[in-house]
Amino acid sequence: MLVERAGDGRRELATPTAGELKAAEAAHMQPRRSLGDIPIGQETSVLLRHGFRQWEDLYPRRQRSMVERLLELAPACSTDAGVVAALRSAILGSTEMAGHLSRWDRYYLKSYESMAGHRFNFTTLPVEPNVWGTTTSGRGTTLRRLVQFVKAAEWLRTNTDRQLSVEGPVPSTAALVPALLGQNIDGDPLERPDAVVVVGSSQRQLLPTGSVDLVLTDPPYHDDVQYGELSRPLQAWAGLTPPDSSGDAVVNRATGQLVADGSYTALLTSIFRESARLLRDDGHLIFSYANRDPQAWANVIDALQGAGLRAVGCAVVHSENETDHAKRNVRACTLDLLLDLVPVSNLAVEKFQPKLGDSDEEEFLGIVAEYVLAIGALSTDWRHEFLESVSTVNFIRPLRRPRNT
Ligand SMILES: C[S@@+](CC[C@H](N)C(=O)[O-])C[C@H]1O[C@@H](n2cnc3c(N)ncnc32)[C@H](O)[C@@H]1O
Repeated sequence: MLVERAGDGRRELATPTAGELKAAEAAHMQPRRSLGDIPIGQETSVLLRHGFRQWEDLYPRRQRSMVERLLELAPACSTDAGVVAALRSAILGSTEMAGHLSRWDRYYLKSYESMAGHRFNFTTLPVEPNVWGTTTSGRGTTLRRLVQFVKAAEWLRTNTDRQLSVEGPVPSTAALVPALLGQNIDGDPLERPDAVVVVGSSQRQLLPTGSVDLVLTDPPYHDDVQYGELSRPLQAWAGLTPPDSSGDAVVNRATGQLVADGSYTALLTSIFRESARLLRDDGHLIFSYANRDPQAWANVIDALQGAGLRAVGCAVVHSENETDHAKRNVRACTLDLLLDLVPVSNLAVEKFQPKLGDSDEEEFLGIVAEYVLAIGALSTDWRHEFLESVSTVNFIRPLRRPRNT
């Protein structure tokens, strides 16, 4: 066991002193909360296989006690409910550094979240974090998060001339809300909040038909990331009951979610159709997508056409985390395709094409883009043609291991 000490601009790693060992064993370090069972799933299977049974098993005793103590103290810190909520979310956020899963990066001396790289991680050198944190070092600590909140609040104050008003969170099953922008009968701006936060599946959205200029979204990439499962430890700490996963637009082979033929496309179609409903005729739906599996692309393209949308253009962008340890030296996608669509109407549109280089990934995306740009006017047998044209590109060939000679 090693201890990292920080202070006076220095960091050191050393074996623990007798005093530090004694402090760690202190009687008050007795956690009390149980966080519930870890369910069977695509990502959780690795936890169950290694003997973890309850969510609290992922945390060393001292980390659990510290999180519990901070959550107890938070309500007394301010009479402002917003401040207490921010403090609570900083404390809850720190639980993504679960001591038994969090690991050191071998390239930079820093610890990683337990679900970094979108997997629950295992390591031979786990890192028990300092829950509260220090001002000089440490990732993901409560203090670090609070500093970022203050920075964000200051940015908002400098860039807006007033306090923004935010309504919600309201469930997506609530009644529709009036448009957020517009004028009353006398031509004065409507008295509406700047934002409404809605929780739930975007199969049902709360804004009126034809009231929106832009739907900007960031959907899951087929089965690449199990957001629901990976966020379960945080939900458990927050005391939230696991959300109804029936609207979760992620294919999960362990639970069977959206595995049935056509079910993923059907769910995406209903979400895109609802987004299209909100748009004005000249409104845009914009999102990015990446996947190595041509079937995933075919399903998305199918869903967009089925939702009554047509393509305006697409662009290739570097994905933000291509230097992630999880993507280093593996054949992951390093490019995203940005898709820009409008509802089918008689309005003329000027289409724009992506700029592509000559890498294997760009060759693949070039074919995908050709079909994306035809959304709204795809022929009946486009799917077969598309799958046929991508079948020979290098990018989707399985990784060939170098032979040991
Ligand atoms: C690519 S992530 C978005 C990440 C986000 N932009 C960020 O920077 O943190 C996709 C998100 O879509 C959510 N999601 C899945 N199905 C959904 C649905 N039917 N309605 C709304 N959100 C959904 C997932 O839970 C996940 O949080």
